[in-house]
Amino acid sequence: MYNLSQSVTWKKLKHLAEQTADDRIADAFRDNPNRFDEMSLRLGGLFLDYSKNRVSPEILSSLIQLAEHSPLRQRRAQMFSGDIINVTEKRPVLHTALRNRGEDPVEVNGQDVMPEIRASLEKLKVFSEKVREGQWLGYSGKRIRHVVNIGIGGSDLGPNMVCRALLHHRHPELRFHFVSNVDGQHIHKILKPLNPETTLFIVSTKTFSTQETLLNANSAKTWFLENAPEGDADIAQHFVAVSTNQAAAMEFGIKRENIFEFWAWVGGRYSLWSSIGLPIALSIGYDGFIELLEGAYAMDQHFLHAPLDQNMPVILALIGIWYINFHGAETQAIIPYDQALHQLPAFLQQLDMESNGKSMDADGHPIDYATGPIVWGQTGSNGQHAFFQLLHQGTRFVPIDFIASLKSDEKTAEHHFALLTNMLAQANAFMNGDQDGDAQTHASCPGNRPSNVLLLDEMSPHNLGALIALYEHKVFVQGAIWNINSFDQWGVQLGKRLATEISGNIKRQSTDYDPSTQGLMAIVKHHLPSSKGRKKTVTNISAGKTKAGKA
Ligand code: F6P
Repeated sequence: MYNLSQSVTWKKLKHLAEQTADDRIADAFRDNPNRFDEMSLRLGGLFLDYSKNRVSPEILSSLIQLAEHSPLRQRRAQMFSGDIINVTEKRPVLHTALRNRGEDPVEVNGQDVMPEIRASLEKLKVFSEKVREGQWLGYSGKRIRHVVNIGIGGSDLGPNMVCRALLHHRHPELRFHFVSNVDGQHIHKILKPLNPETTLFIVSTKTFSTQETLLNANSAKTWFLENAPEGDADIAQHFVAVSTNQAAAMEFGIKRENIFEFWAWVGGRYSLWSSIGLPIALSIGYDGFIELLEGAYAMDQHFLHAPLDQNMPVILALIGIWYINFHGAETQAIIPYDQALHQLPAFLQQLDMESNGKSMDADGHPIDYATGPIVWGQTGSNGQHAFFQLLHQGTRFVPIDFIASLKSDEKTAEHHFALLTNMLAQANAFMNGDQDGDAQTHASCPGNRPSNVLLLDEMSPHNLGALIALYEHKVFVQGAIWNINSFDQWGVQLGKRLATEISGNIKRQSTDYDPSTQGLMAIVKHHLPSSKGRKKTVTNISAGKTKAGKA
């Protein structure tokens, strides 16, 4: 029976944490001049420096032992081979198959799924090339110029983050918009300047049952039909869907051939490699999308075959476990020194917190140790002027991942130099502080605050794919060692159910709720627009028209 917190290695690590509580990272470099070389890893265009951490060779080897004594190896093999590791939903977990560039079959229920994955990629290729080359025309014969992705969570964050990170690869004639919040201001702001003749909507929803996405999709459809001469007949040219629920997509009014399918064994937060990545293929082109998959595949192979002590995802995961379980770290800061990655923290929030925000293990037993951290972050150098004060002099222990790409275009070389040198300075300051002797003044920075530095040779589709897969596998490794199911998300169902219930009960002043909820419902009820007004709230968005007709 796997009992992590009662294991010999766990107890040894607890002892090591106490024993090394006052050790300084900076001293470790003095004791071992080769520390930087020994505690850095390279994979293709990715370089990881993990030497500024509070780990000694003895601690690292104990952490590796923790991984060896965990279900990690077995669960890793099970994931890649399509076994059912999402035990509560009785599903395989096969985002790795989506980017499998090898010839080996991957079986689900005894059937090789690679042919249907390749077919879905071909469909993505044909469609994205038609739109990009101006062959896919709107109802008035004009090419598509604006793509609006309507989705939330994994149906938004991944493609949104990747399109933003690779903006420099974007098709010059296309603009991309991502609607996710149910707040009508979100869709209103995006639709207002658009012309329905040249707008393509992608309704992205794995289940085709998410309230926010359906409300936004219906508002977009109403807006479109208000302007389209042939009404429903024109929907076909301007609405496509990405979903596992073909029937619901067709009921919404999307033609069967305009539905890009994917599978239940792809988790929402792991789905950008599937047809959920359609906006990515439209933006950077199908070849660029394949490069993204190839980068992730390279990281998959590294994760599968590299020895654990030379394995990037394993090292990142174990250092995280060291801080979470033996140093009380509650959060993990993600600080990209790259404006192109400003949406990466939000993406990693869902990836990590929806995967490992669990308190019951895969066998259904309550957990007696900490699991997934609160993931947060902001780009540098902005963070230096917002929260770095707390990170430098606050009372909390916050491990940091710095991420940057080394290449910039000539026009911004001076800025890029300032950006990178700021990051190096901050990582150095967090480690060394400015302890002049023991004098503690208001200006003193204690230092000994750890960080990882991840450097991408350049922000390419390949390197970005590898970076994303690195974090997917880091989350996987932590989940396997904590023996949790990282692939379900039962915690989000309660809120969804109550939202539907309360919106139904609010009119009848139900007394089924606690006094606070009831009191708030009465206030909201009082401020609800009349039902007529509610109908108009979102859809009275005039299309982007000029006096002489449409833009
Ligand atoms: O947040 C809950 C969740 O189910 C996520 O896992 C998912 O990515 C998101 O909602 C959207 O779900 P769908 O793609 O089915 O609309």
